[in-house]
Amino acid sequence: MQWLNLEDNINLLSLIGAVLIVLITLVIVSRMFKKMKEKKEEANLSEHQWDEIGEYKNPIPTGWAVVFFLAIVWAIWYFLWGYPLKSFSSIGQYNEEVKAYNVKFEEKFKNLSSKDKIAMGQNIFLVQCSACHGITADGINGKAQNLNIWGSEQGIIDVIKHGSKGMNFPGGEMPAAADLGIAQEDIPAIAAYVAKDISAIKKTKDEGLVEKGKQAYATCASCHGEDGKGQDGMFPDLTKYGSAAFVVDVLHSGKKGFIGTMPVFSTLNDIQKEAVGEYVISLSRGE
Ligand code: HEC
Ligand code: HEC
Repeated sequence: MQWLNLEDNINLLSLIGAVLIVLITLVIVSRMFKKMKEKKEEANLSEHQWDEIGEYKNPIPTGWAVVFFLAIVWAIWYFLWGYPLKSFSSIGQYNEEVKAYNVKFEEKFKNLSSKDKIAMGQNIFLVQCSACHGITADGINGKAQNLNIWGSEQGIIDVIKHGSKGMNFPGGEMPAAADLGIAQEDIPAIAAYVAKDISAIKKTKDEGLVEKGKQAYATCASCHGEDGKGQDGMFPDLTKYGSAAFVVDVLHSGKKGFIGTMPVFSTLNDIQKEAVGEYVISLSRGE
């Protein structure tokens, strides 16, 4: 940085200002010194004296008195109607404004078609999620979940293989297939059954495997329950898997998973969460 650049107007003005301030200060200070030296006191001494130290009878300056009384009035206003007793809070004011805005937002967008919802969701995704998941949602080479697969039958296969953790369910974490004693060849079968009969995907690429998968699902049922509903919130509700509702749950709880950490998205409102959920699910459905 160049300090003395007189071609820069702002720099030049600042320097002129600084010189002026120094000059004015010198003039005023020297005048005051002169006054102090020469001035004679005109007011009368009061009759009170303390060890020879007297006091002049100067009237209170009007401006000073006015400001004094205004300060008292302001203090009373401030205490009773301003901050302390009414406990005004700017954070509270902000929250109320956001709430009012969200009510308006919900009123305006409550009847979105599913196509518009996905379009809204895509916009939100590009702003809020693509930094980690990538513009095409492929997870940028394993930096975050690949959302083109997550939420599909293949996604279920991956979860069974690797396990899942980090949404802080009271039931704990999901171990990998090897730790659950699930045979390698049962994995696609279980995924077929869960995709077709339990999840919101409601179809499978391999109808023939569904019966076999239903038998092997017993291992999963110990946590997720026979019906897949997750025993009243102890474990995730697999009937939501493959729908926007599951994504919304991830946005509410965040995820400290194997790959990394995803924050909670409390700044999105309900419609926005659902919209981004619909968008994410549309990716794995290939829509
Ligand atoms: C020991 C209990 C337990 C068992 C057994 C279990 N899960 Fe899970 N599962 C969980 C928990 C806990 C989560 C949520 C993990 C998290 O995100 O915090 C989960 C998550 C899931 C998910 C959501 C995946 C995701 O990406 O968040 C799917 C799908 C799933 N499990 C399927 C299964 C299937 C199929 C089986 C049987 C092979 C199974 N689970 C066995 C506890 C279990
Ligand atoms: C700071 C980075 C980051 C941001 C921002 C982010 N995510 Fe994630 N997300 C992750 C990571 C990392 C995972 C994988 C966690 C794991 O399993 O290790 C993940 C996983 C997921 C999952 C799968 C959850 C599961 O149970 O396996 C979904 C769905 C998801 N993100 C959706 C979103 C959406 C929608 C947004 C935007 C609103 C978003 N993410 C923003 C990092 C992020």
